[in-house]
Amino acid sequence: MNAAVLHALGKPPRFESFPEPSAGEGEVIVNVRAAALKPVDKAMARGEHYASFRELPVVCGLDGAGRLEDGSRVVFAGPRRPHGAMAQRTAVARARCFPIPDGVDDDSAAALLNPGMSAWFALTWRAQLAKGETVLILGATGVTGKLAVQIAKLHGAGRVVAAGRNEPVLSTLGSLGADATIRLDTPDQDLTAVFVREAGAIGFDVVIDFLWGHPTEVLLATLGRADFAAARSRVRLVEVGESAGPAISLPAAVLRSTKLEILGSGSGAVPPLDTIVDSYHQMMSYAASGELRVDTERVSLAGIEAAWERQHLQGRRLVVIP
Ligand SMILES: NC(=O)c1ccc[n+]([C@@H]2O[C@H](COP(=O)([O-])OP(=O)(O)OC[C@H]3O[C@@H](n4cnc5c(N)ncnc54)[C@H](OP(=O)(O)O)[C@@H]3O)[C@@H](O)[C@H]2O)c1
Repeated sequence: MNAAVLHALGKPPRFESFPEPSAGEGEVIVNVRAAALKPVDKAMARGEHYASFRELPVVCGLDGAGRLEDGSRVVFAGPRRPHGAMAQRTAVARARCFPIPDGVDDDSAAALLNPGMSAWFALTWRAQLAKGETVLILGATGVTGKLAVQIAKLHGAGRVVAAGRNEPVLSTLGSLGADATIRLDTPDQDLTAVFVREAGAIGFDVVIDFLWGHPTEVLLATLGRADFAAARSRVRLVEVGESAGPAISLPAAVLRSTKLEILGSGSGAVPPLDTIVDSYHQMMSYAASGELRVDTERVSLAGIEAAWERQHLQGRRLVVIP
């Protein structure tokens, strides 16, 4: 069968033939229809992710959408290595396959699974977002950030402030529910002033952070200012991604002088299985009703090397079609 096969960390995978998977105990074979190409797939292939590959060659792709042998449509996550999602077929634990409702196409289902669940868990399970609260999203112009804007509103956020660099994408976020946008590519002093202005009198209750690095440092320095320290509530900052950098410098005084709480959300910090399943069904029902949208662009599996190098995707998710 055809697959996107990784032979060396730090290089793109190659389109080539790979042995067919066979189902082991508790597993099914999925005929893949669409596999999302995400930052985490690239980070794993670079060897820079905590779940990076230890043995090569391996087929890339953490998740996707496809058909089981009985014809049912499913999304799946975590194929058994060396198999992956970017292939014509893959082997996955049956328990890691979930039905796709009518009204959600394969490309959208594949594109939604990882970022949608991630944004959902960060807001609901980690931050415990309450109705009426103010949410700041750092990195709102990415696929996961755009979903976080929508999911925050669907969960009753009173005000969503969306921060990113890409002005054309920022200008679309109002239609997804953002109440205000912040341009991050401004000098620190100006950015600080904008954070203060958008926080208003009550501050941010929740920060969902897909960036880390310098934008987070500017925000934290702002939170430490006296005008912010008076904010009425706990500030729950959930660290989800590191598009702007893997590390920050955190002044101790910020933790002592504010009600800041820093949490993480990722594969090592997930809710119990019943919460995962319930959240998935709720998320997909919002997608089926058109209340949750993800922008996708199809690329062929044969073109994986060029697709792998693509940058500046304008808030769209590439979806690999085998
Ligand atoms: N922990 C989890 O479970 C989980 C799940 C999903 C995603 N993530 C992580 O979250 C991050 C974003 O994912 P995504 O799906 O939204 O990716 P994406 O669609 O590729 O978008 C990338 C985002 O990062 C921003 N960005 C990139 N470099 C930047 C920089 N140097 N400074 C400031 N902003 C920068 C982009 O801003 P502009 O477009 O405005 O330039 C855009 O908002 C990634 O690190 C990803 O691995 C984690």
